[in-house]
Amino acid sequence: MQRFRIRGGRTLNGEIEISSAKNSVLPIIAATILCDDECIIENVPMLDDVFVICDVLKSLKVNVSIDVGNRIFRINSKDMLPLDLSENLIRKMRASFLVLGPLVSRFGKACIYMPGGCNIGLRPIDLHLKGLAALGADISIVNGCVEIIAKRLVGSNIYLDFPSVGATENLIMAATLAEGKTIIENAAKEPEIVDLAVFINGMGGDIQGAGTSKIVINGVKKLRGVSHIPIYDRIEAGTYIVLAAITKSKFSIKGINEEYLNPILSKFYEMGLDMDVNGNEIFVNGDSDLKPINVKTLPHPGFPTDMQPQLMALLSITNGASTIIETIFENRFMHVMEMCRMGANISIHDRVAIIEGVSKLTPSTVKATDLRAGAALILSALSCEGESEITDIYHIDRGYSSIECKLRKLNADIERI
Ligand code: UD1
Repeated sequence: MQRFRIRGGRTLNGEIEISSAKNSVLPIIAATILCDDECIIENVPMLDDVFVICDVLKSLKVNVSIDVGNRIFRINSKDMLPLDLSENLIRKMRASFLVLGPLVSRFGKACIYMPGGCNIGLRPIDLHLKGLAALGADISIVNGCVEIIAKRLVGSNIYLDFPSVGATENLIMAATLAEGKTIIENAAKEPEIVDLAVFINGMGGDIQGAGTSKIVINGVKKLRGVSHIPIYDRIEAGTYIVLAAITKSKFSIKGINEEYLNPILSKFYEMGLDMDVNGNEIFVNGDSDLKPINVKTLPHPGFPTDMQPQLMALLSITNGASTIIETIFENRFMHVMEMCRMGANISIHDRVAIIEGVSKLTPSTVKATDLRAGAALILSALSCEGESEITDIYHIDRGYSSIECKLRKLNADIERI
């Protein structure tokens, strides 16, 4: 099994480029099957999760051609068949479930195993299924497999009990080819949902209000192929901002959208981090005196749960006591035990983490327990002098494109072994 060996303590410099957002690319790839023309997605990050969703499509006889050098994906589902989805593929990644909406929408049926993914919580799918049922689908669960049948989905009013990102995306895709108007209330407002709507509208769909809590979808009969460049990855950008701060380095991060990044930036400003945004670039002066803060993870535009472990790494060496309340996933503090191995002083009380800043962390061998936990451990290891090893890095490869190459360009000492 691969691991990272990191010799930390260096000051980093240079410039780092942000890739397209994993969480945009995954639903967009799923949405390509809403039409039977070729769709072209550009600047796609080469991530394990992206290859998994492509494998899901390929298993349905969709033609996926990948130009790795130019990061261009050409997807054509002209010959697609509504086959059952392999349990293995679906268990590999929760986002595979995103093909459900478009599959039912296009073929009137789908059979799919319950999804897998990061081990950060129960992550039920009730909201996806309730929404599809409201659109007229018949749903049964047999031996862990969800079977859905709908002759034609019909527009409806859907209220989500929680603004789930995946459920909002699945229902947007399902409603796109449904008959009549669908209104999703208490919809998720994440930037990646806006990107999905832009993509589908480019295909000839009619989605209004994406990015607000009320999304209106007027069903259309047919969609056409389109070319699209997904938005920048705000979580990757946030991770590298922490990197500058935790290593007391100064460098530029290219490829940000300030509006989308604001929920993250506002917490760094509150800590006193010196940052200068210039268009789609941000310069971070990590040599700033930082203050402890209190943070609560919330749906967008709140502070994203996907940045919680990385922020915790920074708070663990920020003088004073900080608190983090995790409201999105009930089991998203697994990195705490690993960070404590590195000398962090963190205690957990239900969904609240109390972080007493220490002057520095100490190198250690630690395990990436999920994707963002893994990122937090890389940041922690780079902050302290000496050699650390991070195991189970396959989690990190799910969501960070060429992470060790990008870090080495900044003069970090990291190797994959
Ligand atoms: C997406 C992101 C993930 C991010 C999360 C929250 C992708 C591919 N993944 O995941 O990186 O951490 O949003 O911002 O975009 N829930 C239910 N019932 C449901 C669906 C969700 O109770 O049917 C609950 C979940 O258990 C969780 C909360 O809602 O507690 C948020 O989940 P959701 O927004 O659906 O996250 P994902 O779409 O899985």
